[in-house]
This record gives sequence, structure tokens and C-alpha cells, in this order.
Amino acid sequence: MCQQKGFTLWFTGLSGAGKSTLSKLVEDELRKRGRNVEVLDGDEVRENLSKGLSFSKEDRDINVKRIGYVAKLLARNGVAVITAAISPYREVRDFIREDNKDFVEVFVNCPVEHCIEKDVKGLYKKAIAGEIKEFTGISDPYEEPLNPEVTVNTHQETPEQSAAKIISKLEELKYL
Ligand SMILES: Nc1ncnc2c1ncn2[C@@H]1O[C@H](COP(=O)(O)OP(=O)(O)O)[C@@H](O)[C@H]1O
Ligand SMILES: [Mg+2]
Repeated sequence: MCQQKGFTLWFTGLSGAGKSTLSKLVEDELRKRGRNVEVLDGDEVRENLSKGLSFSKEDRDINVKRIGYVAKLLARNGVAVITAAISPYREVRDFIREDNKDFVEVFVNCPVEHCIEKDVKGLYKKAIAGEIKEFTGISDPYEEPLNPEVTVNTHQETPEQSAAKIISKLEELKYL
């Protein structure tokens, strides 16, 4: 059987924007279509592959590059790889784009006011109170992608609508 083309579907966006939610929905859809899928979720990676790393720029870059490296190994073996990490720095994302080739960037756009309002994990409250330092969007930078393949506006769309937009783009790009 001819091996299917691997790719890296790279979610980037603020904490609580919807990266994990959408990665699960897209993962389910890809599995339904018979694809081998792996999800590299930032929170999980920080518990194993990147355990001990801080949230300094240097450590964030190391963390994101590790995710990019693993994604590359998997994608070149036909796996549909989904990554869900904040990945706040444009330069590192663009480095991974060049290094990985089959790279589809999804900007999970949710204005910080909405993320603060939802506060899915209660982290914004702590960050605003100064209990968490170097928190993206509050006390640490987030650099939006300039040319993402897909932008989903999660404060205006349902998760299903956002996921459908991503699947359509993968079809358009001939990965599905
Ligand atoms: N269009 C959407 N896409 C993704 N999540 C959405 C959307 N609309 C609302 N949400 C909600 O936003 C929250 C996103 O949380 P989560 O996926 O954990 O964010 P992240 O992984 O980016 O930190 C969830 O509670 C989810 O139900
Ligand atoms: Mg998440």
C-alpha cells in the first residue's frame, strides 16, 4: 500500500485559546479517515520530554524545538502529527516550518480579554495577581503568525466549526 503523506499540524495560540480542544477534535476526524495520528500537547510534553524546563525565552525555545524535532521524525514516516503548544515566538515556529517542510500552521486566535474571561484553567487569575510569572499574554510576549495556513477565531466559532475549517484546509493542501 502506498504510504500516506505525513504532515505537522501546528497549533499556536494563547493559553485557553482552544489548542487542546481542537487537536482532539481533529485527531478523532483523522483517525476516522484511517490515518495514524500522534498528538504532542504542550502540557504533556512539559511532563516528560521537557520536564524541568522553565518558561524563560531560552527554555520555551528549547521546548518548542524538541516538539518540532519529534514531529519531523514522525511526519516523515507518514504520521499525521498534531502539536498543541503555545509556541509564542515567530522565529522558532518559522525555523520549524523550514526544517519540517510539510508544516501547516494554525493560528488559534482568541483575544486575551476572552481568554481571561473564560480562564479555562484558572491560570489568568493567578498570572494577573502576579502569582505566576512569565505568563504568555499577560507578562510574556505572544507573537502572532503572519502567514498561517489557517486562522480559527475561537471566540466567535464553535469548536466543530473551527475543526471543520482545519480539515478543509488539509484537504485543500492534499494531505487528506
Ligand atoms: N472554536 C473553539 N475552538 C476551541 N475551543 C473552543 C472554541 N470555542 C470555545 N472553546 C472553548 O475554549 C476552551 C479552550 O481550552 P483549551 O483547548 O484547553 O485551550 P488551550 O489548549 O489552547 O490552552 C475550551 O473550554 C473550549 O470548549
Ligand atoms: Mg492545551
